[in-house]
Amino acid sequence: MSQERSGVRRIGVLTGGGDAPGLNAVIRAVVKAAANNNCEVIGLEDSFDGLIERNRSRRLVPKDVTGILRVGGTILGTTNRGNPFLYPIETTSGTRDYSARCVEMFHEMKLDALVVIGGDGTLAIAHEFSKLGVPLVGVPKTIDNDIVETTKTFGFDSAVSFATEAIDRLHVTAEAHHRVILVEVMGRYAGWIALYSGVGGGADVILIPEIPYDVEKVARRIRDREHMGARFSIVVVAEGAKPVGGNVTVLKAADGVSLERLGGVAALLAVDLERLTGKETRTVVLGHLQRGGAPTSFDRILATRFGARAVELLLEGKFDHMVAFHPPDIVAVPLAKVVGRTRTVPPDFDVIRTARAMGISLGD
Ligand code: F6P
Repeated sequence: MSQERSGVRRIGVLTGGGDAPGLNAVIRAVVKAAANNNCEVIGLEDSFDGLIERNRSRRLVPKDVTGILRVGGTILGTTNRGNPFLYPIETTSGTRDYSARCVEMFHEMKLDALVVIGGDGTLAIAHEFSKLGVPLVGVPKTIDNDIVETTKTFGFDSAVSFATEAIDRLHVTAEAHHRVILVEVMGRYAGWIALYSGVGGGADVILIPEIPYDVEKVARRIRDREHMGARFSIVVVAEGAKPVGGNVTVLKAADGVSLERLGGVAALLAVDLERLTGKETRTVVLGHLQRGGAPTSFDRILATRFGARAVELLLEGKFDHMVAFHPPDIVAVPLAKVVGRTRTVPPDFDVIRTARAMGISLGD
């Protein structure tokens, strides 16, 4: 690797969007890989807010990232409120255009390039900064696994592991009390977490946004199990699941700064299922528990590979790209191919077919 080619010596790193297990592993990898190539790293706090004022950043050396590989969250802080291209901000130099301020501070802080670790929103913002001449590389993060052009994002495996363990625990109590338990998992408009944790946890019904459900069919599946002698059922519901001809359940509408907040579909469905099956039905929402906790070994390795490769790309001068997992390799994909798209579960996906082969109802 040669800095001579790109001239990159001082790298800013930031984490944006909702946190996901593995963010710290990427930061650690960036700091170590940079140090081993005689580059300096500046950690920017709370996503692009770290480029508003000088005191929102700090130098990171290998000693600062010792021990964070296995820790969830992000030592840099994050935010999923706001897009710097949409509104002005107050700074110590008065009211300024947020994105212009970031570019100005990037140069004032003598940064040569950025590593932007984030989900679809943050990567779209990164692409806009690229267009303004900021050299950068993106690293895809999200428990939702909904970023295109990469088969996996880090954070997903950890969320699925946690959800699977939760389903295991709920199985035991559902069976003991002959109840139906609905487990609502995250994932926004994609059903990856529900599908994987549902298959891994042996659910009886899995409802995902990509396959609108018919509540009568879900109830029939539960009644059929009862007739078979299985007097309990586990229903895994993605927060973005919706009935045929209906809409997603929204807890809070989008307000121009924050995205729409999904949630509550399991509670609504539980009322209908209790009525249709006559069985006692309970609901558990796993919520942010899926984002906390330590990253799994898979996520630690993927995050470390992403971080090391991101530094390599910067040194090669391959900017405006995202690192991506194309098993068994880590490759570079142009950010332009990623923004504005969502990776949902294809209806003919192999794991969907596997679920059906196991007799799991998908509500259709
Ligand atoms: O994108 C990750 C995610 O956890 C989604 O699964 C969920 O819908 C959303 O973020 C929740 O965001 P917040 O923490 O802002 O409520």
